[in-house]
Amino acid sequence: MRIITSTTEEPVDENKDNMTAYIEEKASETMISKKMNPMLWQQVPTPCYVIDVKRLIENLENLQSVEQKSGCHILLAQKAFSMYALYPLIGRYISGTTASGLYEARLGREEMKKENHVFAPAYKTEDMKELVKICDHIIFNSVAQYEKHKELCANVSVGLRINPQHSTQEGHAIYDPCGYASRLGVVRSELKELPGGIEGLHFHTLCEQNADDLVSTFHAFEKQFAQELRQVKWLNLGGGHHITRKDYQIDQLIELIGYIKNTYQLEVYLEPGEAIALDAGYLVTEVMDIVHNDMDILILDASAACHMPDVLEMPYRPRIIGAGEANEYAHTYRLSSVTCLAGDVIGDYSFKEEVHIGQKLIFEDMALYSMVKNNTFNGIPLPTIAVETEDGTITIVKEFGYQDFKGRLS
Ligand SMILES: Cc1ncc(COP(=O)(O)O)c(C=O)c1O
Repeated sequence: MRIITSTTEEPVDENKDNMTAYIEEKASETMISKKMNPMLWQQVPTPCYVIDVKRLIENLENLQSVEQKSGCHILLAQKAFSMYALYPLIGRYISGTTASGLYEARLGREEMKKENHVFAPAYKTEDMKELVKICDHIIFNSVAQYEKHKELCANVSVGLRINPQHSTQEGHAIYDPCGYASRLGVVRSELKELPGGIEGLHFHTLCEQNADDLVSTFHAFEKQFAQELRQVKWLNLGGGHHITRKDYQIDQLIELIGYIKNTYQLEVYLEPGEAIALDAGYLVTEVMDIVHNDMDILILDASAACHMPDVLEMPYRPRIIGAGEANEYAHTYRLSSVTCLAGDVIGDYSFKEEVHIGQKLIFEDMALYSMVKNNTFNGIPLPTIAVETEDGTITIVKEFGYQDFKGRLS
């Protein structure tokens, strides 16, 4: 394994594939110029996200095969993973990007340059003037929003988000768009008739779910909106489909898409975020100190609050390479951070050997909803971003510094 931090002095290697060349080109544009010798994982500068390109490609091949077998279009939901250095690679496999507002829409347009969709609960007029130039599909959350912006939308395909009021999630109210008093999507009782000019319908109700929940949601949707389905050209089934997880029911998904296409003659879109980058990244962190109060506590240079906020928000417990549940192995520690937040705790883990100061620990499945949610609370540095390519080379794509902290303040 090698770590490359700059490519300007690299000898040209004719055998490098385009993707490696692309990342190295990005790297030389954006990053430090010091050059490092061959190093091991233990020497990655921390904290650091390392994206596993091999695994990312496996996910993308899987998604591409769903597109090919079902005839649907798959879009990257950038809210989950916006590592744009990899957009040219991702764009080789799937149909494009979807955005949550103007900035993500710009990123998709600039860096992937394929189909570009956007959905937001409401849009400002100045943003809409930009969006209509860079998006091909714009989805509204209410008829009032559509009426407000429709004149600007003459050259884009316009859709309406529907709330099918069919909840399939348990214990995740914060991630359930079908929950009580949800603002996300028009409910049946509020939609008298589909306004002229609406070409598509959209629903997003799932979170890390399998195809059976999608099937039941679609049928609940169809029961209420069959008439509208006959009036439009496309249906977007949102995200939350864990397609690249081993137990995902791909055949059921393909069958459902076939049914929708055949019954209603629609183009079908899926916009997963997680499925694209699932298990395709690590967060490498260093143990800075070990303190004792009721138990042994590790102070890491990574933070749940700053670098993996879903650990606190979902909440969930990230896996660590070589570690088990508390008390599974001989040495149990509470993993915490350098921030001031008492609750900035990642969890309790056990290790076969004693952990020592200076040791690197590697969190798994850290590509999604991680770097997009980072913050610099307490002035904690943003993690470096790197990629591990198939030949084991680690290329640092971006490093952050004091200016990234200061630049967001005034
Ligand atoms: C409208 C919409 N589309 C797509 C997604 C992506 O979902 P996931 O990353 O769970 O696949 C989300 C996630 O919140 C969403 O709100």
